[in-house]
Amino acid sequence: MLAVKTDKLVKCYGKFKAVDDLNLHVEKGEIYGLLGPNGAGKTTAIKVLSGLIKKTSGTAKVLDIEVPNKLVSGNVGYMPQETAAYIGLTVHQNIEFFGKLFGLDKEHIAKREKELLEFIDLTDWRDELVQNLSGGMKHRVSLACALIHEPDILFLDEPTVGVDPKLRIKFWKFFTKMKENGTTVIITTHYMDEARRCDRVGFMRQGKLIAEGVPEVLMKETGTDSLEDAFLKYADIERPPVRPGVK
Ligand SMILES: Nc1ncnc2c1ncn2[C@@H]1O[C@H](COP(=O)(O)OP(=O)(O)O)[C@@H](O)[C@H]1O
Ligand SMILES: [Mg+2]
Repeated sequence: MLAVKTDKLVKCYGKFKAVDDLNLHVEKGEIYGLLGPNGAGKTTAIKVLSGLIKKTSGTAKVLDIEVPNKLVSGNVGYMPQETAAYIGLTVHQNIEFFGKLFGLDKEHIAKREKELLEFIDLTDWRDELVQNLSGGMKHRVSLACALIHEPDILFLDEPTVGVDPKLRIKFWKFFTKMKENGTTVIITTHYMDEARRCDRVGFMRQGKLIAEGVPEVLMKETGTDSLEDAFLKYADIERPPVRPGVK
């Protein structure tokens, strides 16, 4: 069984196709990176898969179940691109809220909260209102909320934006540890050093997947030494440049 499987997935906003015939296959226990320029449709695809918005057509399955479906939502963690924490609540209240939402009991929440606060380095900020935290700190609270119920599949939409390099390394250690424990991680990122740490990456452009594979293999195939250059090569193959005057 695949962790994620989409077939000809389409999501329109009005007449505009933000996700266009997307075929995405993610194995269980993989760290899969979705890469692509702004507006490529990464966030939209992740929102459909985590059950937040409805697809227009095609299939979108998570753990073999068509989404949105309550049966899978308990197995899925979603960290949105924009901070998800409630700014009028404290860090502790946010974590507790999400824990209760997923039906965890008080002891379980307290144990997880302690681990998570240490991980996001906010133990001393436990009782601070989220509105008083910096952007990066808010983002870390968001990550803790997405992880509270130890999901089998984790969708992370640009989780390391605004996170300092030291903490980014810590985040990645944690993602790798989760993978070792069998969690599937689907991540979008703009940082190419992070993308190279994924087991596989998929390049998205204009709602479509234009190439996917193991980072080293994609670079080798295109004769490039960065994923950015590899992306540009695939983008050229997909749609050759139009030369003025040539019909
Ligand atoms: N709620 C919305 N209504 C209309 N258009 C949207 C909405 N959300 C995203 N879009 C458009 O869909 C396209 C894909 O956006 P998005 O999925 O956010 O891409 P990415 O995450 O790759 O930057 C963009 O052109 C964006 O402007
Ligand atoms: Mg996005």
